[in-house]
Amino acid sequence: MSIKVGINGFGVIGRRVAYAVNKQEDMELIGIGKTSPDYKAKIGIEKGFNFYVPEDSHKEKFNKTGLKVSGSIDELIEKVDIIVDATPGSLGEMYREKYLNAKTPALFQGGESKDLAEVSFVAQCNYENSTGKNVVRVVSCNTTGLSRVLSSIDNVHDISKVTSVIARRAVDPDLPKGMVDSVSLDPVSVPSHHGPDVSTILPDLDIVTMAIKIPTTHNHVHSLIIDLNSSTTPDAIIDTLKNTPRVMLVSSKEGIKSTAHTFDLGRELGRDRGDIYESMIWEDSITVIGNRAYMYMAVAQEAIVLPENVDAIRAVLNTATREESIKTTNDSLCIGGPTS
Ligand SMILES: NC(=O)c1ccc[n+]([C@@H]2O[C@H](COP(=O)([O-])OP(=O)(O)OC[C@H]3O[C@@H](n4cnc5c(N)ncnc54)[C@H](OP(=O)(O)O)[C@@H]3O)[C@@H](O)[C@H]2O)c1
Repeated sequence: MSIKVGINGFGVIGRRVAYAVNKQEDMELIGIGKTSPDYKAKIGIEKGFNFYVPEDSHKEKFNKTGLKVSGSIDELIEKVDIIVDATPGSLGEMYREKYLNAKTPALFQGGESKDLAEVSFVAQCNYENSTGKNVVRVVSCNTTGLSRVLSSIDNVHDISKVTSVIARRAVDPDLPKGMVDSVSLDPVSVPSHHGPDVSTILPDLDIVTMAIKIPTTHNHVHSLIIDLNSSTTPDAIIDTLKNTPRVMLVSSKEGIKSTAHTFDLGRELGRDRGDIYESMIWEDSITVIGNRAYMYMAVAQEAIVLPENVDAIRAVLNTATREESIKTTNDSLCIGGPTS
């Protein structure tokens, strides 16, 4: 039996989740919530997607442009087994009430406060914690990237402390918010929200993060400093990361020296939208001095949480084990490497 899935929001994240859900053999995409009848809605309708709107005024806008509306978002919420909410961060509280009233389990995204959900989710770290929950939060792109890499290094090499300095892309490539012509401290205070957010996934990890916003649209880059309780070697860390799901080792020796190259790598791999779903670690940046390891990591902000959203659907409804779900999702999105 197929899982009936609704997606609320069809922007940077919701669009990707919708197209990914549509590829899963155990899921049926029932409909998508959206407010404006733009090119994304038009192409979605051409592909056979059904759109639902919050209010009659939105329906009128769709009708005026000749685009069909299948009903209200309230109706969509009633029809589905689970809803993936990818609306702007500010709407979470309002929609949470609607989902709870309809007894429809919901996944929220990392822009929402951790307190909105019963549990935060990264598939390979805590898949089972979401089973049977009503409200789950798939954490943000940077938290996902950090949690995958750090949980695996901690399991094998016993981390005592992590520091990450994050250079953040200022805006997504398709958002007309304008570029910053400066390096903005984001925020000025330490830590940035990313470290505390990682603690919602890895509560025992001692981590501090700092973040600056830079005038670029593709990828965040982390300068990672990892203190360990024992000595290790770069080769041992590389071996650990090669055995970690959804981590990709990249190398300057292959010409990947910047986010221009990681972006181009995504296009070259030929995946949907040129997306890279893995945490990307520069293999030749991995250095060990004493008990301290250093490395750089890139996070493709638009794509990295996509497989987590698909896995979280199965985790909440308990339709597959962690390993089964990661494998199914990875196969559907052409993600190679280990699944456990
Ligand atoms: N962008 C990233 O890099 C990124 C990465 C990880 C996590 N996240 C998180 O993912 C969430 C969504 O972010 P995003 O970047 O995908 O946002 P986005 O691109 O702005 O998309 C938001 C979507 O929500 C729709 N929407 C607006 N008001 C609505 C309403 N009242 N009811 C239903 N739908 C409504 C919009 O539709 P219309 O366009 O038709 O108005 C749009 O499709 C946030 O929590 C964010 O923090 C974002």
